[in-house]
Amino acid sequence: MMKILMVCLGNICRSPLAEGILRDKFKKRKIAAEVDSSGTSNFHFGERPDPRTIEVADKHNIDIRSHRGNHFTVGDFDKYDKIYAMDLSNFRNVLKLARSENDRSKVEMILNVSNPGMNMEVPDPYYSGNDGFELVYRMLDQACEIIANSVETK
Ligand code: 4NP
Repeated sequence: MMKILMVCLGNICRSPLAEGILRDKFKKRKIAAEVDSSGTSNFHFGERPDPRTIEVADKHNIDIRSHRGNHFTVGDFDKYDKIYAMDLSNFRNVLKLARSENDRSKVEMILNVSNPGMNMEVPDPYYSGNDGFELVYRMLDQACEIIANSVETK
């Protein structure tokens, strides 16, 4: 079974949303895959997602209320086949922990799925208003649609 990890900084905004979106797409396609998320910081370990993340997910019929903040650790390279970073800072912080070329090969900027080679970042919506969360939702939905379709055809 394919195992995918979404990574951001706090694990309360972008990556729990990415996890919820991709999980929903796999469920609808009846694909058995594991999707989780974590943060490169432990700032919000054990916490619920930001209320604005819960709200934007709700709006798109995705329930992420059961998520609790995780902290990315080196063992995650063994647990997951693919690790998607939301921005360049997350990407670099994850790569710093990589022990091998195999570890490094698992890590990708999530928007390179939808915009190959451009290293575009999912903007951190923490200090933005609700429109920031909707923009993040749309970027992640587009990338996750491609991920779900690519797993399906394998
Ligand atoms: P996230 O957003 O990385 O998308 O979960 C953030 C959440 C919290 C903080 C920064 C970004 N913070 O500094 O507490």
